[in-house]
Amino acid sequence: MTNMNIQEILKTMDYGTAPESQTTAQDWLQQSPFGHFINNKWHKGENHFDSINPATGEKLAQISQADEAVVNKAVKAAEQAAPKWQALSGHERAKYIYALARLIQKNARILSVLESLDNGKPIRESRDLDIPLAARHFYHHAGWAQLLDSELPDHESLGVVGQVIPWNFPMLMLAWKIAPAIATGNTVVLKPAEETSLTALYFAELCLQANLPAGVVNIVTGDGRVGEAIVNHPDIQKIAFTGSTAVGRKIRHATAGSGKKLSLELGGKSAFIVCEDADLDAAVEGVVDAIWFNQGEVCCAGSRLLIQESVAERFEQKLQTRMATLRIGDPLDKSTDVGAIINKTQHQKITEMVNMGVAQGARILQAPCELSKAGYFYPPTLLVDVAPGDLVVQEEIFGPVLVGMTFRTPDEAVALANNSRYGLAATIWSENINLALHLAPQMQAGVVWINCANQFDAAAGFGGVKESGFGREGGFEGLFEYLKPTDNFSAKKADKKAIKATGQTEATDGMDRTAKMYIGGKQVRPDGGYSYPVLDANGDTITQVGLGNRKDVRNAVEAAANAKQWRTMTGYQRQQVMYFMAENLSLRHDEFVARLKATGHSSAAAKKEVDLSIERINYYAAWCDKFDGRVHSVPMRAVAMAMHEPIGVIGIVCPAENPLLSFVSLLAPALAMGNCVVMLADEHQPLPALDLYQVFNTSDVPAGTINILTGQSADMLKPLAGHLNVDALWYFGDQAGVTLVEQESCLNLKRTWTHAEAKDWTANKAQNKTFLRHSVEVKNIWTPYGE
Ligand code: NAI
Repeated sequence: MTNMNIQEILKTMDYGTAPESQTTAQDWLQQSPFGHFINNKWHKGENHFDSINPATGEKLAQISQADEAVVNKAVKAAEQAAPKWQALSGHERAKYIYALARLIQKNARILSVLESLDNGKPIRESRDLDIPLAARHFYHHAGWAQLLDSELPDHESLGVVGQVIPWNFPMLMLAWKIAPAIATGNTVVLKPAEETSLTALYFAELCLQANLPAGVVNIVTGDGRVGEAIVNHPDIQKIAFTGSTAVGRKIRHATAGSGKKLSLELGGKSAFIVCEDADLDAAVEGVVDAIWFNQGEVCCAGSRLLIQESVAERFEQKLQTRMATLRIGDPLDKSTDVGAIINKTQHQKITEMVNMGVAQGARILQAPCELSKAGYFYPPTLLVDVAPGDLVVQEEIFGPVLVGMTFRTPDEAVALANNSRYGLAATIWSENINLALHLAPQMQAGVVWINCANQFDAAAGFGGVKESGFGREGGFEGLFEYLKPTDNFSAKKADKKAIKATGQTEATDGMDRTAKMYIGGKQVRPDGGYSYPVLDANGDTITQVGLGNRKDVRNAVEAAANAKQWRTMTGYQRQQVMYFMAENLSLRHDEFVARLKATGHSSAAAKKEVDLSIERINYYAAWCDKFDGRVHSVPMRAVAMAMHEPIGVIGIVCPAENPLLSFVSLLAPALAMGNCVVMLADEHQPLPALDLYQVFNTSDVPAGTINILTGQSADMLKPLAGHLNVDALWYFGDQAGVTLVEQESCLNLKRTWTHAEAKDWTANKAQNKTFLRHSVEVKNIWTPYGE
């Protein structure tokens, strides 16, 4: 040592340990075994299981496994508390939520230590990210509670909300769930993950300290069976879930037809794109944040590295050098970068997947580190020489494992990035902001980070598309997950008679009088060749219409999915087309009135319906260039742009009421926001909808943008709701249809918007922003600024 100069000392010097004290946390844990928190009281639990410290394998505490009776009790408490909580002024609710935020800050140290003990994450992360962000969510939503009446006067709370969260960010996920739910006047039954219940139990104590009214927040502990009991509980109005796609799918199925609102934040396999002009050293740090943050146990981890070929070798070298400096070990050591994997099962899963990747030909690079024998540690890992279809590239590994591939052109990067059933996040590194902002909208993902990674804030929404789930948490957009519109413009249900297929395609005079379907901009005969009669008010046949089948559904979806032009047009261009549509409909005003009169409308009603249809097209045309996104104020030198993007292909099943007006009322908002649609016209009165094709053809609507199917909803609904290329489905019909649609939507976890009750489409309230919200995905694009 004495012969070394300073340079040599600096090179060889190692970090000393800097352990955070766990004394206070251990003292608090002495009250184990823990019970459930219901109605502001501790409910003594039974059937305890151990909560294990994943870094040592040692027991931390005993947690109770709730049963159905416990869940019932919690739901009852929440139900009883709901009316009073909802009736409080926004300002009163805000005071409680603000108090919770303060208490989280005051208790930040013990919360961070508990989190790191229970989950295995480095204290540096729980102290600097998880807990401060949890407090931030309560502050942000205290503000929304205050502003709700003025900002969203036409909305109200849902009632009791059931929330089930995972083990990777226990306290943060609790905050993401509870803060918006109670800010909007709901009461909550929350279940933390069985592996990590401690901070939720500590939070229950903070609810007591904040004098939160009894029953507003209830916390029950236990495994998936408790989650199931919450999901299936009839008195819960909404389920908010974060966790695996497999369980998310089960929950979608279990809640189908129940009337429960649902938001799912599920798995991911997010792309991390490094363009050749990126600041490579900064991008390496980005990778560290993307995949080695929280041991890679992050739903939005940048786990698929896509590097432009020209810089791939250099980048790999730099990354390898950086990997060698990562410190893996004791989560409570303040200089640790990577902590322990949550449990043995997850450790085994990671190990097996990596071994499989290597067996299939991947080249493995791992951080050279000595791992503690106790606990569940896994080294930071990079798998290269993998192919896009490999299991390790397609499946979520949920550990510190990155797979790396190369691309040549930006288009290839987009194709590779989107080659996934998931769509949670994407990261883009490029010094060319034009290129980055060209790529960002093309990412099939709910969040895009440009030249940064894994940024979160309460003011910016978070959530995915495709099999990463639906719904947003945080930001203005997240509030709608916990609210419903106050006016539903309901109406009396029209009588429905079953239609009869005749098999006839030709009228007796030899002329084909079958009204065709409209697919890909053309009039099309039904694939099966069958038709059925449309009757007038006296029961006489007006004409035959095509009896569609699953093949017609497939053709229409294909036409809509391939119609790329509409979604790339500007709002202004779409607006021009829609104004033209309204103009062309008014030119045919009398024809449409006559058509409606033939199906039983009075003269006045028919005229009103056509007039309102014209007005409605104009209403949504006006919104084309006005239903903007936002720029969220996030607390860093960055902008988070919440862009409104088209969802893609929307299947729309039209109701029986007001056959022209309801069709137009559903078509117009979807079109205005840039979606392509497959419309299933009402089976009894499809003619006004079919007549519209002439309006579309003369209004410059690109082929395939609008497709109209006719036939029995019993034949068409299932293939439409289950179709993998349909991104969202709106259903207006009956209860059986609602259940079927929600069940079938499980296949690709498409967004659904379902209604069993009839609507009065002539009501003023029948045109509103809710339709537009259901027509867009909100994509948050984060871009830092400054040098
Ligand atoms: P999980 O999805 O089974 O657990 C998440 C939560 O759901 C826990 O609270 C659990 O008790 C509950 N749950 C389990 N089954 C349920 C059911 N049928 N109904 C209602 N609630 C239920 O996740 P798990 O088993 O902990 O991890 C498995 C895999 O899931 C991981 O390997 C990872 O790939 C993925 N995962 C993804 C997360 C994300 O944030 N996207 C978080 C945790 C895990």
